[in-house]
Amino acid sequence: MKFKTMTPEEAVGLIRNGENIGLSGFTAAGAPKATARALAKKAEAEHAAGRPFKVNIFTGASTSSETDGALARADAIDIRMPYQGNPDLRKNINTQKVRYSDLHLSHIAMNMRYGFVPRATMAIVEATEVTDDGKIALTTAGGNTATYCKLADRIIVEVNAYHHPQLKELHDIYMPKDPPNREPIPITSVEDRIGTTMLQVDPAKIVAIVNTNENDHIAPFKPGDPVTDKIGENVCNFLAADLKAGRIPPGFLPIQSGVGNIANAVLAALGRNTEIPPFRMQTEVIQDSVIKLMDAGRCLFVSGCSLTLSDDCLKHVYEHFDLYKNKIVLRQLEISNNPEIARRLGLICMNTAIEVDIFGHVNSTHFYGRQMMNGIGGSGDFARNGYLTIFTCPSVAKGGAISSIVPMCSHIDHTEHDVDIVVTEQGVADLRGKCPRERAVEIIEKCAHPDYKQALRDYVALTPLYHTPCCVEHALDFHKAFLNEGDMRKVSFKKA
Ligand code: COA
Repeated sequence: MKFKTMTPEEAVGLIRNGENIGLSGFTAAGAPKATARALAKKAEAEHAAGRPFKVNIFTGASTSSETDGALARADAIDIRMPYQGNPDLRKNINTQKVRYSDLHLSHIAMNMRYGFVPRATMAIVEATEVTDDGKIALTTAGGNTATYCKLADRIIVEVNAYHHPQLKELHDIYMPKDPPNREPIPITSVEDRIGTTMLQVDPAKIVAIVNTNENDHIAPFKPGDPVTDKIGENVCNFLAADLKAGRIPPGFLPIQSGVGNIANAVLAALGRNTEIPPFRMQTEVIQDSVIKLMDAGRCLFVSGCSLTLSDDCLKHVYEHFDLYKNKIVLRQLEISNNPEIARRLGLICMNTAIEVDIFGHVNSTHFYGRQMMNGIGGSGDFARNGYLTIFTCPSVAKGGAISSIVPMCSHIDHTEHDVDIVVTEQGVADLRGKCPRERAVEIIEKCAHPDYKQALRDYVALTPLYHTPCCVEHALDFHKAFLNEGDMRKVSFKKA
């Protein structure tokens, strides 16, 4: 190989204070590891020597404890976008140590190419191999790697021997042209391949190769509990009924599923419900549950951005690679989450809410309007553009002290115009074709926890005269009751 091999410590010597760094990967899958850890150590050493050292990090989505976690603990991040999910980084964001910009995931690559956000000057990319003419074989994720490598001046390639040598065969790397020259993206079915398996970069930009042998360190999800299982069952019963009623075409439509424990439980329920025919998935994160659905013959094909699999599940895929290689395609984020493709394929989009209000607005990101959890991720890419948009959540949180159904969300990520169906363990609210007062009744009666139904009805009764049952004086009283008295059940609109 003609490129210079370095230790991680030598490679991060190339990174300057204030550098804009684009990382490969999506979630912990495919994110650089050894170099990120070495960067965190460098930041600690610089700080100990009294020198400032912070970098700006652009990713596919969340990364891992080895990357975002280590860098956050070392106080090494200034600007961070477009998504995160690490407790240490979350703490730094919520204490304003990190300037976090929460973006629709499909926007970040094009926004960087348009010059709307700072340009990544350095890309750090995990690969299974790199050729002398600059072809990089990506590992377990597409992410925004093509754009970061195109825009960066210098690229560090972390060659990770852990991964299957044929992993590149899963990738379909395609970068759309930018306006005014944008053309239709020629994907008309989930299986279509329109790009290349390896990423071509300018070999002159490759400044270091770092050799590693390390898995993605992804823990399995918690098994379902009665609440998540009931949510899954409610979603499946609803989909089966809509299929029977002819509102979903016979043969079904491709599924997009969000991340997390509820999303996992919904997918598991889809595996069990034989009223729903075997289906295809066009999604963002391919998690363990998708592989289980494939093994059970329920999921026929999946197109996504990352193979975010627990260590055991990834091993299983690598051991049976020939079985999976024609059933999985990994795309760049801008394509997996593309609104044009979501609308064309008619995706059934299922994502998780933190809270939903009686109008159908959804908050996916903030507690009490001010405290960031993770970020909007790809939920908005899919929610607005899907054939059918479903949001799920448990009806209560924190042992019942918080109602997830509130008079008005404390922060809004998805508006009522983007949300068709809300599902909790209590039931399913179908908002399609309903006016605001009908929507409020549907959500309260079908989805709210019994402890909160009367308070929500009382809130609606405050404004009997208008089109929309909104009372600005009391819209956030549920939240005030929790913040002031530790329990939303303390709210009372009768006294108001
Ligand atoms: N107010 C305050 N806290 C709340 C709450 C509310 N209304 N609703 C939930 N919570 C808390 C829960 O109590 C829990 O905290 P705890 O563990 O300290 O008790 C936490 O929020 C949720 O925890 P988690 O187990 O991580 O939930 P999850 O795995 O089901 O994830 C989201 C739920 C909404 C956080 C997650 O799906 C997300 O970040 N979504 C946005 C991005 C997205 O949709 N991505 C997919 C797009 S393809």
